[in-house]
Amino acid sequence: MKKTGIGIIGCGNISAIYFKNLCTVFDNVEVIACADLIVERAQAKVDEYPNVQMSTLKEILSNPAIDIILNITTPPGHFPVALQAVQAGKSVYSEKPLVLTRDEGQQLLKAAAENDVLVGGAPDTFMGGGIQTCRKVIDAGRIGEPIGAQAFMLCHGHESWHPDPEFYYKIGGGPMFDMGPYYLTALVSLLGPVKRVTGSARISFPERTITSKIKYGQKVDVEVATHITGILDFASGAIGTITTSFDVWAAEVPRIEIFGTEGSLSVPDPNTFGGAPKIKRMDDETWQDIPLTHEFAENSRGIALADMAAAIATGRAHRASGELAYHILDIMHAIQDASDTGRHVELESSCERPAPLSISEKFNQR
Ligand SMILES: NC(=O)c1ccc[n+]([C@@H]2O[C@H](COP(=O)([O-])OP(=O)(O)OC[C@H]3O[C@@H](n4cnc5c(N)ncnc54)[C@H](O)[C@@H]3O)[C@@H](O)[C@H]2O)c1
Repeated sequence: MKKTGIGIIGCGNISAIYFKNLCTVFDNVEVIACADLIVERAQAKVDEYPNVQMSTLKEILSNPAIDIILNITTPPGHFPVALQAVQAGKSVYSEKPLVLTRDEGQQLLKAAAENDVLVGGAPDTFMGGGIQTCRKVIDAGRIGEPIGAQAFMLCHGHESWHPDPEFYYKIGGGPMFDMGPYYLTALVSLLGPVKRVTGSARISFPERTITSKIKYGQKVDVEVATHITGILDFASGAIGTITTSFDVWAAEVPRIEIFGTEGSLSVPDPNTFGGAPKIKRMDDETWQDIPLTHEFAENSRGIALADMAAAIATGRAHRASGELAYHILDIMHAIQDASDTGRHVELESSCERPAPLSISEKFNQR
């Protein structure tokens, strides 16, 4: 079977797991070439994976062996790189957030449709064993009709470990645009699209001090909200709340809980692929562990790219679609808009729930 050729743009922090999984786990794809503005970073990857060609963005865009471009640049690079990819007739899968603005998102999806190529967007953790097991539980009606959900992503930012953490405090960063996609994509996968939101947002610390090694002591001006709470009205009628924060030192709240007419479901961390879901139905005395029904419980980042390649090969829909990623972007902007204007905001976007994975679904793993 012909493998789908991948070109990787951006060889920074997160690229390690993509290279590993796309070169050694998923067998329906083949990494052909990689590029980075910092040439040494791309060279380091080529040294580690000698079958991958050292390249430039321009060469990748015109390389006929490449079908999908994996765009793992920092958020401001997502739109320009993705737009160039689709205009060159390549499908593109970008890290989150899909792009910075709704206008960019609309332009990208339009250009992809005109060029008959696909757009995909991270995260793909919702395709992991943890969330897929929860999806099966909900779809089987084990908690009855979903009434509500709560989601919390609380931490004190990434400047203690990321070598170049500045982008987390600039447009396209902040806890909502950085971590919100994991939580919101999981919620939309489990409960369907959102139709209306409201919310409040603030900046608690206008300046951050980097404490990771290389840039230790450097200051970063904070340009985006760092503590945000949103209320989500799902089209299904369920009501959710989400709080994302880079301002919290400690918390004991769950990652995601979903409340149904017949019981409650504890959903594992949507920033991981596995985890330990739990259920407490109305007659249960204690929470019950739910054994995972699905595979991909280990770090399977890149699975959505393998799914995209399989979708291109067979003509079916892919799961981490541009429509889904755009809906998530729209929700995140709408929460900020609601905070700025003091009102509810009706969403103009929607999307299909991505299809659940079957228990035996494979992507020709090596
Ligand atoms: N680091 C993580 O743990 C993590 C986890 C999940 C998702 N992400 C997402 O992945 C993306 C990248 O994050 P990162 O941590 O790897 O950032 P990073 O700064 O470590 O790496 C980004 C790389 O992209 C390169 N780059 C930027 N613009 C480019 C362009 N136009 N052409 C070629 N190269 C370009 C930079 O030189 C840099 O090497 C971000 O969107 C981030 O939100 C990161």
